[in-house]
Amino acid sequence: MINIVLYKPDIPQNTAAIVRLSACLNLKMHIIEPCGFNLNDSRFKRVAMDYINLGQIIRYPDFETFELKNIKSRTILMTTKSKKFYHHFKFKKNDFLLFGRESAGVPNEIHKKIKDRLKVPLSGKARSLNVAMTVSIVASEALKQNNFF
Ligand SMILES: C[S@@+](CC[C@H](N)C(=O)[O-])C[C@H]1O[C@@H](n2cnc3c(N)ncnc32)[C@H](O)[C@@H]1O
Repeated sequence: MINIVLYKPDIPQNTAAIVRLSACLNLKMHIIEPCGFNLNDSRFKRVAMDYINLGQIIRYPDFETFELKNIKSRTILMTTKSKKFYHHFKFKKNDFLLFGRESAGVPNEIHKKIKDRLKVPLSGKARSLNVAMTVSIVASEALKQNNFF
């Protein structure tokens, strides 16, 4: 199963859209807290709808706990600061795809720690994609390479 990891997400509607995507595409979701909102937030619930009950969300109090619990797994960071493109990368079926927070990505120490860092190509002067769009693009490629479910 492909794993989607959100680092301290700030925007409830984005996280909710990823919850729904994960339920539909059989992705396992992980959230590194604290989030910038409560999971009972009405904005979150309105977008997540009943999809919240279809999948499991594993929550961690911080990045160190996430690392310790998944020590044998490969984590890939999605970042606009990489020169390596996601569509040239060979994904494995149990990979963990890490996405940064909407306001600030991930801190430098986490960036340096993760060997595999990938970017979705952007045209012209565009700075970044919405995080939920990025999850959708990269998860599709990882699933396609691993024959979906
Ligand atoms: C809105 S962006 C964060 C922008 C933030 N100002 C920064 O400097 O990282 C939220 C997250 O979406 C992902 N993301 C957005 N666009 C991306 C791209 N073109 N390639 C890879 N990841 C991207 C990254 O994980 C990023 O941390």
